[in-house]
Amino acid sequence: MQQCCVGQSQSSDQLKGEIPRSCCGGGGGGGYPAVARGQSDDAVRDTVREFYGQLVAGEDSRPIPQCPTTDKSWPKHIRDAAAQCHDEVVSKYFGCGLAIPDCLDGMQVLDLGSGSGRDCFVISKLVGENGHVIGIDMTDEQLSLANKYIDYHTKKFGLSKPNVEFRKGYIEKLGEADLKDNTFDVIVSNCVVNLSPDKKAVLQEAHRVLKPGGELYFADIYTNQTLSEKARQSDLLWGECISGALVWKDVIKYAQEVGFEIPRLVTSYTYAVPFECVQNILEGAEFCSATYRLVKKRDGTSSPGPVKATYKGSLAECGQTFQFDVFYTFKAGIPVEVPNDVASILKATRYGAHFDFEDMPGVTTNKDEDYARSLDQADPFAYAAKSASSINIFTEEHKKIFEAATAK
Ligand SMILES: C[S@@+](CC[C@H](N)C(=O)[O-])C[C@H]1O[C@@H](n2cnc3c(N)ncnc32)[C@H](O)[C@@H]1O
Repeated sequence: MQQCCVGQSQSSDQLKGEIPRSCCGGGGGGGYPAVARGQSDDAVRDTVREFYGQLVAGEDSRPIPQCPTTDKSWPKHIRDAAAQCHDEVVSKYFGCGLAIPDCLDGMQVLDLGSGSGRDCFVISKLVGENGHVIGIDMTDEQLSLANKYIDYHTKKFGLSKPNVEFRKGYIEKLGEADLKDNTFDVIVSNCVVNLSPDKKAVLQEAHRVLKPGGELYFADIYTNQTLSEKARQSDLLWGECISGALVWKDVIKYAQEVGFEIPRLVTSYTYAVPFECVQNILEGAEFCSATYRLVKKRDGTSSPGPVKATYKGSLAECGQTFQFDVFYTFKAGIPVEVPNDVASILKATRYGAHFDFEDMPGVTTNKDEDYARSLDQADPFAYAAKSASSINIFTEEHKKIFEAATAK
């Protein structure tokens, strides 16, 4: 079924044939695991691991529906790199969005929940000889698939030696995979955090291993309200990435609690689950696929008020236009007034070198208003409604599976 991530435990046989797989690895039908039923964090991870292990190892020729942000909307340099990835790696790609930011040349990058390695290999090309990529995943079958193609991509991208490695580990416990404080310039993740039983721990760990000014850039599935216990206990909805979806306001809160700036929204698409049998359980909750930037604060980047930021046009892959988020798109040479918090983020990150900043003496700022505005701008549902960004990801085939599962 389409959904944008799945964590259900099924036998290999159950995974064959009858269940359409989503961009995030989905599946459905019978046999949903009880991962949301008050089980321990380890039990949740065991169930998710079992599902992905079976999905990757099993023979599976089911069609994969298109994801919300697929090829045509991706920047050319990313499309080109993705087109060079090995077919088997691409066929086991289960992301739900584009989780690859600009300006990666020479960067140290970590991918949380790297799966078959598709995003890691694309990034391997983009970071080049002087950069390095680590993918971390807890599922042996995924790691083994990704490892199988390291040499292939090293040659394909003309690198003199491999610049990507895959490590086994939990995204909530990066220290166990020997990942040290202040190590990475960029962390990416694609449709994984919703599968974690402890989302705040994931953000905490990402913050710890990022350098000051480093960026966590991730695509995932969000909801607009805390789901009812009934929804959280539904095996079907957990499996469909609905029960585990991130409550967007919680993410904004956790991000600030662990030391990030207020998250900046990069894309958002709402989608409906248009089946009565499911709506009855969801009690009005809504869903979207969204991408955020979370920047680790760096000392000395704060200004007393708004700032004029002028993009220099020097980001090779962006050319004359740099889209920072859904609210700020910078054209080379044209000053844009940005509030202090946005200026702090730009200055703190690797993007800072591509801007000229000019203070605006005498222009005062109201920090409370800035804060409230930034929170409003982080709302993925408000943006998707305003921009009419929505997708229809469910088919008649999905409907049958939902109805069969909820009729049990
Ligand atoms: C939906 S797939 C996405 C994989 C990859 N990001 C992609 O776009 O193809 C989710 C992946 O996250 C991994 N995963 C889920 N929860 C995890 C956790 N708590 N720690 C480590 N890996 C996890 C799974 O093993 C699986 O490979």
